[in-house]
Amino acid sequence: MSDRRVLITGASRGIGLELVKQHLASGDRVVASCRSRDKATALSALAESSGARLNVVALDVGDPASIARAADEVEASCGALDLLWSNAGIYPGSPGTEVQEQPFGELTMEEGLEVLRVNAVGALMVAQAFWPMLTRGRDPKLAVVSSGYGSVGDNHGTPFWYGASKAALNMLHRSLAFDPAGRGVVVLLLSPGWTATDMGGPRAPDPLVPVVEGLRQVVERATAVDTGAFLDWRGEAVPF
Ligand SMILES: NC(=O)c1ccc[n+]([C@@H]2O[C@H](COP(=O)([O-])OP(=O)(O)OC[C@H]3O[C@@H](n4cnc5c(N)ncnc54)[C@H](OP(=O)(O)O)[C@@H]3O)[C@@H](O)[C@H]2O)c1
Repeated sequence: MSDRRVLITGASRGIGLELVKQHLASGDRVVASCRSRDKATALSALAESSGARLNVVALDVGDPASIARAADEVEASCGALDLLWSNAGIYPGSPGTEVQEQPFGELTMEEGLEVLRVNAVGALMVAQAFWPMLTRGRDPKLAVVSSGYGSVGDNHGTPFWYGASKAALNMLHRSLAFDPAGRGVVVLLLSPGWTATDMGGPRAPDPLVPVVEGLRQVVERATAVDTGAFLDWRGEAVPF
């Protein structure tokens, strides 16, 4: 039993929910955050059967007040975090996501700003709010769930807003990794590949469980020299 203190954003479904299950199975203490506890039925059921090892908190990563409330709540219950999975994200048009992305020629500023707000700016605001707790953690790590679509070098035509939001996410967290304030916490940018979740859809080739196991192993193996790296779920470097 490892007894690490782990916070996961976007834990109501998909990769986030599977991270919750796997960390619980490893004996970790998990704080799972979701936008709406009422709608997160699978997570609530898991919380009932897991007792004190799983704590569910409300957190909308696009809402500064919600981030601040969640940080206060986690501070009061945990005091420190050893691992933060910044996983919450939206892909325009995927199930459960209000934002659509129109083709070029019909793009709107509102859609673009919403995707950037949740996927990039909101994620860094989460990192900032929980940073003091991470710096008090044991061997602390910030695992940021990015996407291959965030690669500028390997871009052969990606969805405009989603790709740009993940490239911005990468830039923001790589800056954090090498900022003096980022010392002491290993910051990793992770690409899950095309994974079978609501977002990935039914044609996704990579099953959820091994992808999440792979992501966890990549994080487990990482040391200080890896901070700022952009890695896929098998541990291979992804071009920025
Ligand atoms: N699946 C893939 O193929 C794939 C590929 C590359 C990268 N990713 C990335 O992996 C991460 C997880 O994706 P997934 O496939 O698990 O997607 P998913 O099944 O659509 O789940 C997305 C999660 O993010 C949460 N979320 C959305 N907006 C939020 C907000 N404003 N505040 C807090 N939580 C919010 C959702 O909560 P609600 O239930 O409340 O909507 C849900 O828990 C995302 O960052 C995604 O970009 C996925």
